[in-house]
Amino acid sequence: MLVTGAAKRLGRAIALAAAENGADVAITFRESAREARVVVVELAEHGVEALAVRCDVTDEKSVREMVKEVARELGGIDVLVNNAANYETVEFEKITVARWDAIFASNTRGPFLVSREALPYLRKRRGRIVNMGSLGGLRPWATHAHYCSSKAAVHMLTKVMAKALAPEIAVNAVAPGMIELGEKSAAAFMRKMAKQTPMQRNGTAADIAAAVIFFAAAPQFITGQVLAVDGGLGL
Ligand SMILES: NC(=O)c1ccc[n+]([C@@H]2O[C@H](COP(=O)([O-])OP(=O)(O)OC[C@H]3O[C@@H](n4cnc5c(N)ncnc54)[C@H](OP(=O)(O)O)[C@@H]3O)[C@@H](O)[C@H]2O)c1
Repeated sequence: MLVTGAAKRLGRAIALAAAENGADVAITFRESAREARVVVVELAEHGVEALAVRCDVTDEKSVREMVKEVARELGGIDVLVNNAANYETVEFEKITVARWDAIFASNTRGPFLVSREALPYLRKRRGRIVNMGSLGGLRPWATHAHYCSSKAAVHMLTKVMAKALAPEIAVNAVAPGMIELGEKSAAAFMRKMAKQTPMQRNGTAADIAAAVIFFAAAPQFITGQVLAVDGGLGL
């Protein structure tokens, strides 16, 4: 399995869940080199092959070299998880062209580029792609126009790729809702969101990792789906 942006947080949880299930795992990082090294050690403790490769998912050359290295080291790629992304809160009228383009470059162009470069390897293995979408790609959040639009595009990209890459590759997306990752600055907001959520709590990294692992191992007949993992918040 190849998981982009997995030195920390959800990507790390997904990578570790895959290793617990016996998968060899490659992670990518951009700035979090130190954290990535720690994750590689944690992955290897599960007795699987593990490596970390630096990659900027917005950059074609960087993506091409990373995918080649991962395929060489792991002997192929059977599951790609497009996890690397950026999130920011900006009032609508304050979103600059630069911010808009930067969010789309990492969140939308990134998954497209990594998927395109990994295609030959995924085809060979009759593999799977899991894109990380967002509840914000399904529901409009007023102070996240660029982020929400970029994730809605990822959901559509998921469906287009599912059709374009069948029958060899299954493509699905996981759309997390409010996930508790221990950020102190967000504590009051997260408490409020838990109260509004039918399941009366926020999600955990384990909830998201379980959904990704489901798609990674699911029958190939399941394709083109966007699964909200949000405790019912989007209902
Ligand atoms: N956390 C949530 O509550 C939540 C909710 C809805 C959806 N999601 C989605 O779930 C996924 C994981 O969420 P998260 O909160 O764990 O993500 P995150 O911490 O915001 O980002 C994950 C990693 O993406 C990498 N990244 C950013 N830009 C990059 C670029 N241009 N090239 C390569 N790597 C880049 C960063 O790597 P470095 O640190 O190495 O630079 C970062 O550590 C994301 O797709 C996110 O949009 C999360």
